[in-house]
Amino acid sequence: MLLTLAILTAVVSIHGVCAVPQTASVTNTALPTATAVVPGLNYLAREAGKLYFGTATDNSEFNETRYQHILNNYLHFGQITPENSMKWYATEPEPGVFNFTAANAIADLAFRNGMILRGHNCVWYDELPAWVTANNYNASELAYIVANHCGTLVGHYRGHVCNWDIINEPLNDNGTFRQDVFYDTLGESYIPIALRAARAADPNAKLYINDYNIEGVGVKSTALQNLIKQLQADDVPIDGVGFESHFIVGEVPTTLVENMQAYAALGLEFAITELDIRMELPETPELLEQQKTDFNTVIHACMSVPQCVGVTVWDWTDKFSWIPSSFPGYGAACPWSSDYVRKPAFDGIAIGFEGGTI
Ligand code: G3I
Repeated sequence: MLLTLAILTAVVSIHGVCAVPQTASVTNTALPTATAVVPGLNYLAREAGKLYFGTATDNSEFNETRYQHILNNYLHFGQITPENSMKWYATEPEPGVFNFTAANAIADLAFRNGMILRGHNCVWYDELPAWVTANNYNASELAYIVANHCGTLVGHYRGHVCNWDIINEPLNDNGTFRQDVFYDTLGESYIPIALRAARAADPNAKLYINDYNIEGVGVKSTALQNLIKQLQADDVPIDGVGFESHFIVGEVPTTLVENMQAYAALGLEFAITELDIRMELPETPELLEQQKTDFNTVIHACMSVPQCVGVTVWDWTDKFSWIPSSFPGYGAACPWSSDYVRKPAFDGIAIGFEGGTI
């Protein structure tokens, strides 16, 4: 015990900052863990010229003391995305009745820690309350509902949210528009309606379209670029694109940089908004090493294009990852284990922000 304390003391004195001590893992001792001795991932991201390294978090995690201890460490996380509490079902459960209680709790956490707050999200086909989808609104009614929802939500956080996922997952993987209540009733016009309402509500917030499977060159990414060009031609406010980046170990797209450069050429900023890299369980040393390489590849891509402003993981610990419930047999997608021990993926991220590749 004394030796451990001495080592920890040495680590702190070297960096002169409060390096978060690793709690010894009582399980998975056979699996490799991180070895990087760094102040934190957000510290490295900022040193590298990025705005942040951040994470999604949810209200159900507020009572987890050890989780909160690491989450609240600005050296690790400089940005927070509410995983669920800003979604439509949570913020406008009844027509015109807004409830920001849960989202405010996460906004307060970000504010207390000096962390950038990302808004997620205004308009999405999922997690809609029944009153939005079941009332068979006509175009003018739904146009008002969309504008009012986005304007009220963005307006509530005016000056506190730096960038918003205003339009979430509007496209199908084949590049066509997703058919949801918004598109079926309003066609593509729901997109400018939402973006314009958001701009009016907070002129300083960066307005993003956020989607998955657009991270590499392909038909869906091309379709999104074409949508953005049309919005720009119509003078619709659009500032950025969120690359969700929900990847599979060993299958990270090889065209990340080329794809990012195409969006940069449109004059946009962009961010890695929901990064996790899942593996088919059980974890093995080999899969964890490949995951380390994969996280490094993503960070290196963001480092390669200045318009990539930051990286957010979709929670930082396997303990609260959405993956196992959505992809049975898969998991271990995050940089920290369920025991809050840094995995080799942590090193992959750190090396990436330090300018290295694996
Ligand atoms: O809060 C309730 C709880 O009271 C209830 O007991 C429990 C069981 O029904 O459900 C809980 O709500 C769940 C919520 O997560 C909080 O855990 C919802 O059912 C569940 O659908 C919701 O899943 C979220 C999913 O989006 C759908 O909103 C995931 O946590 C979240 O990680 C996931 O995130 C999305 C992004 O918003 C958009 N990009 C894709 C990404 C993954 O799907």
